[in-house]
Amino acid sequence: MSIAATQNHAAATTPAGTCYKVLMWEEGALSPAELDAWQTARRDLLARMRDAGIKGARGTLARLGAELRELSARAIAAPLDTCARASLSLTRVGALAAKLQRADEVLAYRLTPCSATVLVELSGEEGIDTLVSRWSAESGEVQWCSNPLVEAISPAEAAEWQEACRSEAAGAAADTDADEESSATPFHHVTVLRSEAVEALQPAEGRVLVDATLGGGGHSELMLQSGATVWGIDQDPAARKAARKRLAGYADRLHIVAGNFRNAVELLRAEGLEQVDGILADIGISSPQVDQAERGFSFLAEGPLDMRMNPAAPRSAADIVNTAAESELADILWQYGEERASRAIARRIVQERAKAPITTTTQLAAVIAGVLPRKGKQHPATRSFQALRIAVNDELGALDALLETGLSLLKSGGRFAIITFHSLEDRAVKRYFDRVTRPEIDRPEWPAPRPNPEYAARLVTRKPIVASEAELAANPRARSAKLRVIEKL
Ligand SMILES: C[S@@+](CC[C@H](N)C(=O)[O-])C[C@H]1O[C@@H](n2cnc3c(N)ncnc32)[C@H](O)[C@@H]1O
Repeated sequence: MSIAATQNHAAATTPAGTCYKVLMWEEGALSPAELDAWQTARRDLLARMRDAGIKGARGTLARLGAELRELSARAIAAPLDTCARASLSLTRVGALAAKLQRADEVLAYRLTPCSATVLVELSGEEGIDTLVSRWSAESGEVQWCSNPLVEAISPAEAAEWQEACRSEAAGAAADTDADEESSATPFHHVTVLRSEAVEALQPAEGRVLVDATLGGGGHSELMLQSGATVWGIDQDPAARKAARKRLAGYADRLHIVAGNFRNAVELLRAEGLEQVDGILADIGISSPQVDQAERGFSFLAEGPLDMRMNPAAPRSAADIVNTAAESELADILWQYGEERASRAIARRIVQERAKAPITTTTQLAAVIAGVLPRKGKQHPATRSFQALRIAVNDELGALDALLETGLSLLKSGGRFAIITFHSLEDRAVKRYFDRVTRPEIDRPEWPAPRPNPEYAARLVTRKPIVASEAELAANPRARSAKLRVIEKL
């Protein structure tokens, strides 16, 4: 369901103890037959899990647990989605929202007009069953189902879900704000490897594709022109707004999702989408993010030292520059910028910020230029700015999370295409693709190669696809772009 039809909330508290995800739905949202089929399959899986638990078969237990989660999400998503589309009023569950927002044990929730998914962390005497019965009893006119789905989850999973709710809530608010702006800045981004990347996903009518980095919608537009349905994710409200405007003619097949692609599985599952035919990620920043001085990405234009792609993210570049320890700063500059003068720059930053906080892009650029003399054409702050941007947006962490989860979203034969712009990203993609496309693995101490348990895909591109001469002549930014593609077996 669209963001407009949901209501999310995430508290600031970070989960530490036992957490539960509780899915309640309004009586009648599922037909008796749907409910019965789901409950029977669920009972069967639970019985098999009990057997596996008794035998101590942890691998089987984990597999069955994943099956159970998938079964529940599949069984419930479609009917709830239909129900949510049918009724766009949130007032009936709004009363519950007000109550949940005040409850100490509630870490986050996602409400639709006929369902509530609530993340709780138990602290007091009250057990999860008592708590859920109490909510049901207290929620006034809403008649909740008598058998909600309760799932125990780890603090890490809980934190991830909480973060997804938080960014959706921020995204929805930012979308509204952005829509209300009368003088929108034009969004101009030249799409890189446009036809190469889209053709790799074999777009066609009836195929469902995910554009994990919607940006200005350049790749999505080509996918939509082929007749495919597109789910476009972006964490930047300005990009979502620009894409929505550009692709308005395809509104029936384009679904725009606010959030970080590191949570793609979670975000799409919340929309009722389990498996797709292709995923594209065009990693990195868009031209408008760099070109607009107020976003704080550019050392050439005076602006606040920000660099957040998602303006609601908690940590800006100024926060890092003014609070991180000298050693952490040096590590960031070295690891993400391969800046050889990382230590000297970090030392100078710490000296300067002791006199006054470093709050603007040009102020930081001047501090760096004071350490490094200008050599050749490149500005001395280039590598440090790249490093800070990667750290602020945890770009490599997000890419790793997408790589680790992307294949699970794909149908058999589905394609996974990634465009990267620097060696750190390309290395991560190459390593991961290599890991999952080798049928066998070998080690010197083994007498013979063994089957690779991670083998799940085949390489579509042995060598990365790069921009043609014609594209390079028109768009020099494409010179470092590399496209790699795999296909799920
Ligand atoms: C290079 S641009 C994509 C341009 C797009 N392919 C086009 O043709 O217009 C990258 C976009 O991905 C978004 N982005 C980068 N990392 C992201 C992440 N981890 N989650 C969600 N969006 C992300 C950025 O905000 C930016 O809009």
